[in-house]
Amino acid sequence: MELGDAIHRRRMCRDFSDEQISPELLDRLLDLARRVPSAGYSQGFSFFVLEGADTSRFWNRTLPVEEQTRFIWPGLLRAPVIVLPLAHADTYINRYSEPDKIKAGLGTSAESWPIPYWYTDCAMAVQNLLLACTAEGLGALYFGIFRNEPELLQDLGIPVGYRPIGAVALGWPTASAGASRAEGSAATRARRPIGEVVHRGRW
Ligand SMILES: Cc1cc2nc3c(=O)[nH]c(=O)nc-3n(C[C@H](O)[C@H](O)[C@H](O)COP(=O)(O)O)c2cc1C
Repeated sequence: MELGDAIHRRRMCRDFSDEQISPELLDRLLDLARRVPSAGYSQGFSFFVLEGADTSRFWNRTLPVEEQTRFIWPGLLRAPVIVLPLAHADTYINRYSEPDKIKAGLGTSAESWPIPYWYTDCAMAVQNLLLACTAEGLGALYFGIFRNEPELLQDLGIPVGYRPIGAVALGWPTASAGASRAEGSAATRARRPIGEVVHRGRW
């Protein structure tokens, strides 16, 4: 698939079939996801992957079991893979303490960073993952973790300092996956016209 087609076709998927993703395909997707630019080539992102029945470890923490039965997108809970994209600030602070970067003045603490690049880079990896899924015919949803993040990280043994910027559910979309999109924000809001987004020369 051409890159432009993948960009045009990519839409968040909230309805997955039961079909698993082969280990080879998952490895390929994760390899593509990590091939992103990163500040100072710090590469301070990691992916924590839950597969198959293990995905319930994610759901049972972030969506109480009694709420799962009446969840608006039951097909999302069937996603065979959940990836937590983890940002690690200290990798950046340490990298910017190295001789070639020290002059930037970002090597002391997270507070000295006008833009926390650990989130920027992690988001780029997420976008690569979403596009790689689209190119393979898979569906994916990037979504927020709104409940029990500390407990989740502890359950999964994720070390202190690694922060998930959300979660990515991926899998094979059902034939009716488009209907779940109809309930997402993109169905009720138009894409902003390009003239409103782009400012050339002056605002
Ligand atoms: C930072 C970010 C957070 C999002 N959080 C959620 C979320 O928590 N739940 C959800 O269903 N979709 C979430 N989305 C998906 C957006 O709703 C979706 O990208 C948007 O409506 C445009 O639709 P499209 O991606 O299908 O084109 C999020 C997207 C981004 C970029």
